[in-house]
Amino acid sequence: MSSGTGAPELDRLEREALEEFSSAEDASRLEQIRLGFLGKKGTLTEVLRGLGKLPPEERAEVGSRANKVKVRLEEALEAARSRLGSESESRSSRDAFDVTLPGILPEQGSRHPIYQVAERMIHTFHNLGFQVADGPEVEDEWHNFIGLNIPPDHIARDPSQNFYLVDDLLLRSQTSTVQIRVMEQNSPPLRIIAPGKVYRPDTVDASHSFMFHQLEGLMVDEGVSFGELKTTLLLFFRQMFSREVEMRLRPSFFPFTEPSAEVDLSCPFCARKGCKVCSQSGWFEVGGCGMVDPNVFEAVGIDPEKYTGFAFGLGIDRLTMASHDIPDIRYLFENDVRFLEQFSY
Ligand code: DAH
Repeated sequence: MSSGTGAPELDRLEREALEEFSSAEDASRLEQIRLGFLGKKGTLTEVLRGLGKLPPEERAEVGSRANKVKVRLEEALEAARSRLGSESESRSSRDAFDVTLPGILPEQGSRHPIYQVAERMIHTFHNLGFQVADGPEVEDEWHNFIGLNIPPDHIARDPSQNFYLVDDLLLRSQTSTVQIRVMEQNSPPLRIIAPGKVYRPDTVDASHSFMFHQLEGLMVDEGVSFGELKTTLLLFFRQMFSREVEMRLRPSFFPFTEPSAEVDLSCPFCARKGCKVCSQSGWFEVGGCGMVDPNVFEAVGIDPEKYTGFAFGLGIDRLTMASHDIPDIRYLFENDVRFLEQFSY
């Protein structure tokens, strides 16, 4: 446009451009129109570029008018773009939407496998007449060691084997603490189980973790025998596992039981043939047990001449591994959803 452009020419340019923008039938035509008016060599661009050559008295009026036209053309261009864009979008989304597809279900969580197994253990012991008892995870030395007949120089009391907090407070290293708490506050007959978390500064590997879960059991009455201990555990394992399992009690030592035994199950990974998980022994250790030591009864004020009792501590994580053929305890604590999903219900 020549340097003599005035307001009437701008009016005409505006009218033409608006008409063309609104009638553009597709995106490439729209682009051509844009270049014709607003491109580097577009008519409106030339007007703006030529402003400097106008006499000063015209420059302000034509300049302000030209800028207004530019704004209007840009608005019209945007409107045309969204008209063309939304037309093609609505056509394709109409084609793509299949109303017969099933809906997308929201992801649903489920209980952690350790807690599913703990619940099954609790339920099974309920059937055998045991009730759940509870105790704190931060314990004192009395409940964690002294009441349990564990002497001051015992390796289990070494500060390097425990998570001490302050003075005589520590994170409990075993659920046997709950035995002491229950016997301090109740008189026989007693039949309790105590599931919960315990803590030891063990190096993490396929079968160790610094935090794990135990289920403690205690039965105290007149005339309770080792035979009853064995029968209780056997009945428990038979009910707990739908498949047939063998149990073995191996002589051992715990300060709070006499006699004491380790509890082994036939290795669930190799059916006793011997494998890496059971160190080729065919047996899988799941806990300890024994007859309550008379010193423990004395510590809590129960007459050892009148009463006897048995106790056991089972590894809930170990039983979770045995139930589901999980060869490495770390899977249970990594909380990888792909692992956990296999146990959802
Ligand atoms: N508290 C023992 C541990 O953590 C397990 C245990 C063994 C518990 C024998 C008992 C028991 O009640 O009688 O290794």
